[in-house]
Amino acid sequence: MQKIAIAIDGFSSTGKSTLAKQLAKALNYKYIDTGAMYRAVTLFAMRNGFIAEGKDNLGALVKLLPTIRLNFVPNEELGFSEIYLNGENVENEIRTLQVSRFVSRVAELEQVRHKLVELQKAMGKEKGIVMDGRDIGTVVFPDAELKVFMTASTQARATRRYKELLDRGDNVSYEEVLENVQKRDFIDSNREFSPLRKADDAIEFDNSDMGLQEQFERLHSIALRCL
Ligand code: C5P
Repeated sequence: MQKIAIAIDGFSSTGKSTLAKQLAKALNYKYIDTGAMYRAVTLFAMRNGFIAEGKDNLGALVKLLPTIRLNFVPNEELGFSEIYLNGENVENEIRTLQVSRFVSRVAELEQVRHKLVELQKAMGKEKGIVMDGRDIGTVVFPDAELKVFMTASTQARATRRYKELLDRGDNVSYEEVLENVQKRDFIDSNREFSPLRKADDAIEFDNSDMGLQEQFERLHSIALRCL
């Protein structure tokens, strides 16, 4: 059976990664969470003091970009790959609200996008991949056989993200999560380089009122028709 590339894009916290993971597992494909890559670069910038509340030195981050190594290493127990930053597993640390606060500013940088998009294109060379992000169908895999654009109401997305953070044990309020989701959507949609937008040939998928199983079944049957 021919292997295809599946691009899943959409706004923050639409549940893209949960669905993409399930789909990759069912098709026995590789799954790549590109948001994790932008988050890991942001964590690197935070640790080095290049980005903080009210002060940025993003020029210094750009200079050090060649020293940043990102890898995805399969975790058999979890059933998916985890991201490593310069040899360190940062899967957990990149998911904090603090990283979410800064990530869209880092993801706006042309040099950061260039580096990560090149890595992403290389990962998809052999097809057999499900990749989620903001610009996968438009920039990374413009020729993907299946493109999905996920949307959901802002409230549904903020509630989802809030629950995830509480489950992790993070001390956050619903209001600050909602504000972060809205801010990121705005920056991601209005940035100069590869802004978030639906590819013309993407299928739009609003999951505000859809359970996980239904979402998976719908998408899985669409994917099977593309093989
Ligand atoms: O998908 P996730 O919410 O983890 O992504 C975090 C952030 O990374 C997004 O808000 C966006 O700023 C950036 N991103 C991006 N392009 C991608 C994936 C993520 O700009 N392909």
